[in-house]
Order: sequence, then C-alpha cells, then structure tokens
Amino acid sequence: MSNLVLHHGDNFKFVEAASVDFVLTDPPFNISKKTNFASYEKNTIHSYQFDSESGEDWDSYSHEEFLGKLDEWSSEWSQVLRKGGSFAIFCADAYTSHLMEALKKNGLSPRRLITWRKNNAVPVNRQYMPMSANEYIVVGVKEGKNVTFNADVPILEQTLEDKIIEATIVADKVSTIIYSKVRDAVLNLQEDDLFGTDHVDMISQVVDNILESSKKEAVKKTQAIYKLDDEGKKYFQACVPNYVQNPLKVGNRLHPTEKPVPLLQFLVALYSKPGDTILDGFGGSGSSGEAALSLGRNAVIVEREANFYAKLKKRLESQATAVALI
Ligand SMILES: C[S@@+](CC[C@H](N)C(=O)[O-])C[C@H]1O[C@@H](n2cnc3c(N)ncnc32)[C@H](O)[C@@H]1O
Repeated sequence: MSNLVLHHGDNFKFVEAASVDFVLTDPPFNISKKTNFASYEKNTIHSYQFDSESGEDWDSYSHEEFLGKLDEWSSEWSQVLRKGGSFAIFCADAYTSHLMEALKKNGLSPRRLITWRKNNAVPVNRQYMPMSANEYIVVGVKEGKNVTFNADVPILEQTLEDKIIEATIVADKVSTIIYSKVRDAVLNLQEDDLFGTDHVDMISQVVDNILESSKKEAVKKTQAIYKLDDEGKKYFQACVPNYVQNPLKVGNRLHPTEKPVPLLQFLVALYSKPGDTILDGFGGSGSSGEAALSLGRNAVIVEREANFYAKLKKRLESQATAVALI
C-alpha cells in the first residue's frame, strides 16, 4: 500500500470521505499586493507579490472571492476528515476570524490559534507599522471520539521565554512549600508569645531548618514539569504553549512561502499518530509531505502548479516506500 499519494491538480475529490486523520495545510493567504516597495528608500524588501514567481496569481483574490474560497475549502476539509480528526491551517492575521467562521459553518471546531514567531520577519515599510514577524495557524477538530493530542511532544527548542516560564513554575512550586512552612513556624512563635521580641537568631534557625527540610519535597513536587524522551533526555514540558518559536531556516528554498519542516513536524507529532493519513491540498514545495513521511505518517499531497508539483514530486518520491500518482 502506498504511503504517499500525489496529485497534480486543484482538488482532492479522489480522497474518500472521512478517511483523513489530520489536515495540515497552508492555503493562499490572499496577501500578495503590487507595491512600490522596490523604489521605497527605507525598504528592505522588493516585492510583496509572493505568487508572481510562477507567473500565476494563486494568492490574489478579491476580499469577497477569498471569503467564498475559505468556505469552499472548509467544506472540503470537513468532508474528508474523520470524526475526531484534527486540522492545522496556516492563515494571515487579517483572515483568522473569517477562517474560523467558515470552519464552524462547515461542521468543524476551531479551538486555538497557534502563533509561529518567525526569525525572518517581513520588514515592510518599517517606519510606519510593526513588522510582520508572526504567522498564525488555526488548529481544531472535527468533533468525535479518538481525538489525538500528544501533549508530551517535545517542544522545538528551549527559547528564552521557555526558560522564564520554567523558572517561574519552579519558583512558584518551591516558594509555595517554603511559604507555608515559614508561616506555620512563625505562627508557632506567636503562640509561644515569642513573636515580635528580639529573636533574630531563633527565626534565622527556623528558616535554615525549613530550607533544609523543604529540599526533598521541593524537588519531588517540581519533577512533574519535566519529562524524559525516548533516549532518557530530560526536557521541560509543563504544557504545550500556543506559540512556537522556530529559529530554523528553510533549507534549499523551492517555494516563495515555504515552511520549515521542523515546524510542520511539530504539528504532525502533536496532532497525529504513526500510520495516520495527513492531507495537504496546497502542497507547494512538499514540506508537509516530508514532515508526515519522516514521522511515519501517510501523506496525500495536491498541488496545482506544474512547476511546484514537479519539485515536490522529486523531493518526496525518494522519501516514500510506495507512491501512487493520481
Ligand atoms: C502558500 S503556498 C504553500 C507553500 C507550502 N506550505 C510550502 O511549504 O512549500 C500555497 C500553494 O497552493 C497552491 N494552490 C493554490 N490554489 C490551489 C488549488 N486550488 N489547488 C491546489 N493547489 C493550489 C499554490 O500553487 C501554492 O503552491
């Protein structure tokens, strides 16, 4: 049986209803614009026309047309997803609420917005507005049993923010233990009518004893925020935050809006199991297919443009055990 299905076309009507476990896709954002940036003196980007490289305007709809597209795509995703299946759909900030509404209208339940904090912000007209340093991913489910959410998946890399969260959680847990012991000890001093008198040495002794006696308990209570991976390496994993910071760059760039594979692998690992089927109807360079195959999932990848399709086919064929071209 093939673990990779490729289709050069503009639809996935060949996919059986309710046969997909996870829709992972990066559809057009509808943000390409003709600009005068090339002549703008403070500018560091020369074009905002992402879809012009291939000669076809795949990212340039009118607002109304695009809302229609979001509805059409949501209906198609809803048909192929199994009950309990999940989705992760990249979306520009301006359209996240429209996408969520379209998903809901078509029987899907958007649950969260994951922010991907990029290291390669788009430095557009930076004297006038904040740079676009984030992308957004609408994640959710088609309600049903057997929803996959692998909360133990290792986060991509420990960032400074993760270290601050880790330090805050450790400090909170340890200080709670120490606080209650100090409070009880000081209350006891009060009962003995010793509180308020000059008992600096006594209080100092109490605190020393408490610190010593709290060590074991503090370590034990704090262990729960760490997990061991398969190789026995310990990592901090209190919860899955709704942002991802991925400093990794795309390798050999095959597409103007190519996503880094580790980011997609994170989503694949979070929302699917080995052997599951993942669909991307907007395949681009095939990055989602690579993420799926590398983690033992099956991939169904569709791309409309001949140029991109040829590249993704070459990229993915060698990574699959058996390929079906439809
Ligand atoms: C945002 S890009 C995806 C980039 C991809 N995530 C990557 O990492 O390379 C969207 C892709 O969808 C393709 N596309 C647009 N409309 C399509 C349609 N109706 N059916 C199939 N592909 C389509 C475009 O040609 C483009 O390559």
